[in-house]
Amino acid sequence: MSWVKAAGVSDLSPEYPTACSPSGIPIAIYLVENKVCATSNICTHQDALLTDGYQEGGMIECPLHQGQFDIATGRALCAPLTVDLKVYPVEVREDEVWVQIEDKTS
Ligand code: FES
Repeated sequence: MSWVKAAGVSDLSPEYPTACSPSGIPIAIYLVENKVCATSNICTHQDALLTDGYQEGGMIECPLHQGQFDIATGRALCAPLTVDLKVYPVEVREDEVWVQIEDKTS
């Protein structure tokens, strides 16, 4: 596991997620009640970018079929979703957001 810089705190908004791709991994960063969270940016149903979706508080709604996930836990909240979303550990270091990702093995 490695920590990688993903975004700047000033890039974040409580109204919409921010897309980033540290080490080529698509990740969405959220600001929920002053807490920073990170999930995969790819919906578990099909290949939709959650950063194109609709965030309301601690919920992100997929733009394609309106499946909803809990941002903090990644839990799938409704149909058509059947698979939870991957969440990433987050640390805020001064004005930077760092996420912990799995090391690539080849
Ligand atoms: S692609 Fe996200 S709910 Fe279908």
